[in-house]
Formats: sequence, structure tokens, C-alpha cells
Amino acid sequence: MLGMLPEKYLEDTLRYRRTLVEMMLERGMDESLECELVRRSLLLSPIVATCGPAGPNAAPFMVSYLVKEEYLEEALEKMRDISKKYWGNPHQAISSAARFLLDYVYNEDKVDPSRMVSHVMSKGHTWINIASTGKATLAFMVPPDKAAYEVRTRASIVESGGIYEYTNMLHDLMHAVPHGERSHPWYPAILFEVEEIYDNSYKVLGKRIYPSTS
Ligand SMILES: Cc1cc2nc3c(=O)[nH]c(=O)nc-3n(C[C@H](O)[C@H](O)[C@H](O)COP(=O)(O)O)c2cc1C
Repeated sequence: MLGMLPEKYLEDTLRYRRTLVEMMLERGMDESLECELVRRSLLLSPIVATCGPAGPNAAPFMVSYLVKEEYLEEALEKMRDISKKYWGNPHQAISSAARFLLDYVYNEDKVDPSRMVSHVMSKGHTWINIASTGKATLAFMVPPDKAAYEVRTRASIVESGGIYEYTNMLHDLMHAVPHGERSHPWYPAILFEVEEIYDNSYKVLGKRIYPSTS
């Protein structure tokens, strides 16, 4: 058992993402929030680095957090409900999705920050390398130089079941339900399970902060 992830890492990543959702609920999507989302894009879509038969590779992926196993079915039920009720109703869909994010994905009682998910839309370099090695490293950065984390993970491609459904429904809540249509079908999920975290800020220069060395 690896224990809790470091506080500063949680503060800079998961908790800041929660703050962005709170801002969205309080103010709506105004120009300053849009600027903040652009500034924080490497928190929302970190670079996923892999190595393997497709060569050393780096590509941005939209990444989110998985809820703890005991909340997975409940979270799926909520998402199905929002999707059914607010399909094609942008205002209601977005505010219900934001509330869902606060209640589950950014709720520290329910989320498991050591398990992240994305979906993989092509069988490109990332897919080939993960399928072959089961490893990926995520690079998160808080600009301009506030923080940088290298998160080494055990990575797997998930093509059915609860995690597959969770990942695609989470994507739908933001990108399909408000518009009432999908721009693309569901895709396989990637599950990233955190094994190690390094603090790559210019002050710390690559020290491992998880699991702790002390
Ligand atoms: C901001 C951003 C987010 C992206 N998110 C995803 C994603 O969630 N899933 C995906 O398959 N591709 C995503 N892409 C595209 C990938 O980065 C990449 O172009 C594609 O997966 C093929 O790269 P690869 O062959 O190196 O794996 C994203 C691109 C950008 C610019």
C-alpha cells in the first residue's frame, strides 16, 4: 500500500482543478475564466510520454481522475441521469456536470487521485507503446514556473466495463450532452495508476516525492 499522495502535488493539481470548476459555477464562462483555463491547460491536458516499439513519444491528453471503486456505480448512475435529463440543454447540462465534478471527481472523500483516466482516439504511438510496455509518464506544469510534476504510472488500455463507461461518460458530460450530439463515438480508456511522482520544479530539480524516500 503506497499511502497518500503529497499535499503540495494535490494542491497544485486536483485542488486547483476543483477551484476552476467552482469558478465556472459561480461566474459562468467569462473571458477571465477562459484565459485561466488556457493558462492551466497543462494541468487539464498534461503531456503523456511513452517509450516502446513506436519510439520515444510525447502527446497531450485530456486527463481526469477516477472515483474510488466503491463510488464507481453511484457516479455512473449520476452521469447517466444527467445525460438523460439534460441532453441538448446546454445551460442545465453544464451546471449539472460542474456539480457532478465537485461532488465526485474533485471530492477528496470520493476520488482516488492515484488513478487517472483518459480516452485514446487513435491507435497511434501512445496506444502502441502502452499496449506493449504498460507504462506512461504524465508531465503536469503550473505556468510560468510555479510547479512541474513528472508522474510515472502503470498504464493500461480498457475497452469495456465500468472504467471504460466512466471515462467516456465524463467526456460526454462536457462535450456531447450540452450540444445534444456526439462529435465522435466512444473510445477505449487509458487507466493511469500512479507509481512515482517527481518534483521537477527548478528549485527541487527532480527529487522523488512519492513514494517518500524518508
Ligand atoms: C489539448 C489536447 C488534448 C488532447 N487530448 C487527447 C485525448 O484526450 N485523447 C486522444 O486520443 N488524443 C488527444 N489529443 C491528441 C493527441 O495528443 C495526439 O495527437 C494523438 O493521440 C496521436 O498521438 P500519438 O500517435 O503520439 O499517440 C489531444 C491533443 C491536444 C492538443
